[in-house]
Amino acid sequence: MTVEKKTILVTGGASYIGSHTCKALAAAGYVPLVYDNLIHGHQSAVQWGNLEQGDIADRARLNAVIERYHPNAVMHFAAFAYIGESVSDPGKYYRNNVAGTLTLLEAMRDHRINRLVFSSSCATYGIPDQLPITEATPQRPINPYGASKLMAERMIADFGAAHEIGWIALRYFNAAGADPDQEIGEAHDPETHLIPLAIRAASGRGPSLTIFGSDYDTPDGTCLRDYVHVSDLAAAHVLALAALDQGLPSQAINLGNGDGYSVLDIVAAVKRVTGLDVPYCLAPRRHGDPPILISDATRARTLLGWASQRTSIESIVETAWAWHQRADR
Ligand code: UFG
Repeated sequence: MTVEKKTILVTGGASYIGSHTCKALAAAGYVPLVYDNLIHGHQSAVQWGNLEQGDIADRARLNAVIERYHPNAVMHFAAFAYIGESVSDPGKYYRNNVAGTLTLLEAMRDHRINRLVFSSSCATYGIPDQLPITEATPQRPINPYGASKLMAERMIADFGAAHEIGWIALRYFNAAGADPDQEIGEAHDPETHLIPLAIRAASGRGPSLTIFGSDYDTPDGTCLRDYVHVSDLAAAHVLALAALDQGLPSQAINLGNGDGYSVLDIVAAVKRVTGLDVPYCLAPRRHGDPPILISDATRARTLLGWASQRTSIESIVETAWAWHQRADR
């Protein structure tokens, strides 16, 4: 007997986290179908499943793709994700991340697609009163990007209740690293994230690193973040989908390792992994940066059976370094 494989519509599947999730889906026996407008996504990152170019705000295009492939579920990554840009151009973020998600939800409702795994963010929490951050921590985003993800979560919950769509919103902490096989990796343009910029500074392929803020109330004065390997995030999406199929109630779930690393810790880790110094200068704080973001991911472990494969910062940076040596050649 042959069992038909389930097709998963992956919006933003040509993105950093989206493409790693497509690889994980394919390995788990699903058929990813990438739907991406390729504004920030890379065609070269679509290596598992077909690519259908399109925008989540384009209802006619979404309908055509859904009617052609009949996906069983949706994983929704498509979004703009530059915090600074969201502050200077909020309309761009609300139109794409909020209105675009609404269009996608209406398409799901009308085509009776009843499973959704959503790419949410610790940016929905803002500056928390207590650490570590659990799913019950109040969500008070401090920038339009975080607000757009929170609004999308709310719409998803309302559509879920009204139209019997089971959903999981995965709130990632700081995604980092690259596919251990180096088939895909982090390739933002422009790049604003700490680890790739530190690696480029070390290898001489980029300018020296600017450290944003050294006067925070943290052990070394720089911000603390909870870095989580992108392949571990990808694995959690596959687990979330399976859990929904097994009847797990719709909810939000944090994804992080629960360890806080400062910007200077990352500089030191990049030096240990690469053997190269990271030239850096100290600069004022970057607008919209919370001082400390550290997760409590107990729910992911207990409800999804999620277990990070790479928890040490060295093991995360090693995969990023391997990818950058290959991609920056
Ligand atoms: N940083 C620097 N210099 C740089 C880049 C970053 O000092 O050149 C610092 C930041 O100030 C921050 C830390 O390094 O303290 C991490 O910065 P990233 O830009 O790598 O990541 P963020 O924490 O700002 O953003 C990440 C995700 C977002 C998500 C956010 C939640 O990229 O999508 O976490 O706060 F929304």
